Amino acid sequence: MTQDELKQAVARAAIKYVPAGSIIGVGTGSTANFFIDELGAATGLIRGAVASSEATAARLRKHGIAVMDLNEVDTLPVYVDGADEIDAGLSMIKGGGGALTREKIVAAVARTFVCIADASKRVALLGRFPLPIEVIPMARAYVERQVRAMGYEPRLRTGFTTDNGNVILDVHGMQIENPGELERRLNDIVGVVTNGLFARRGADVALIGGPEGVIELKRPQ
Ligand code: A5P
Repeated sequence: MTQDELKQAVARAAIKYVPAGSIIGVGTGSTANFFIDELGAATGLIRGAVASSEATAARLRKHGIAVMDLNEVDTLPVYVDGADEIDAGLSMIKGGGGALTREKIVAAVARTFVCIADASKRVALLGRFPLPIEVIPMARAYVERQVRAMGYEPRLRTGFTTDNGNVILDVHGMQIENPGELERRLNDIVGVVTNGLFARRGADVALIGGPEGVIELKRPQ
């Protein structure tokens, strides 16, 4: 199976987590795009969706799915999104596409986070994939200095602005032993909007696509 076929398989498997008639949260990226296409094919399944990026909103609308403002919605039964890396505890690195802040907000509102990913995203230790940090532009140099002082190597993502008008620093060469603690420490730096560690609120369920089919993992209690 190709990587795209694996992404499509997990996207299809995620449909069973979508309650009929609900409003759900939808993530960003190539795997999330396959999920949006599955939603489009399941005509009338959902009442609407809250999008984690402008790109996702546009794709949902193209399928005729109503895009809601998160402020108009109290709860979301489920949020479905991909990941750049996911570990055994279902902590993740996300934000390769730069949508990490809105993704984290929508995920925070959702009761259940379903991560959909092909098996290449599974890792023993997070950090090989550069960890994105969204930063208010005027704080960029300060945040870079603070991250360097922590012993890490941040690099500005050039020519990129987030949907929120901010910049991204990608932190390379990490080996993240305690993702929840690092997530909190990075978010404590003034000028950081958020970082791409999804550990304090990780996935509840992961649907992982590999040659043996789609396997379902649950977050350890
Ligand atoms: C978007 O900002 C990211 O968090 C994506 O969810 C993540 O990068 C996974 O993307 P792919 O499904 O394209 O690998």
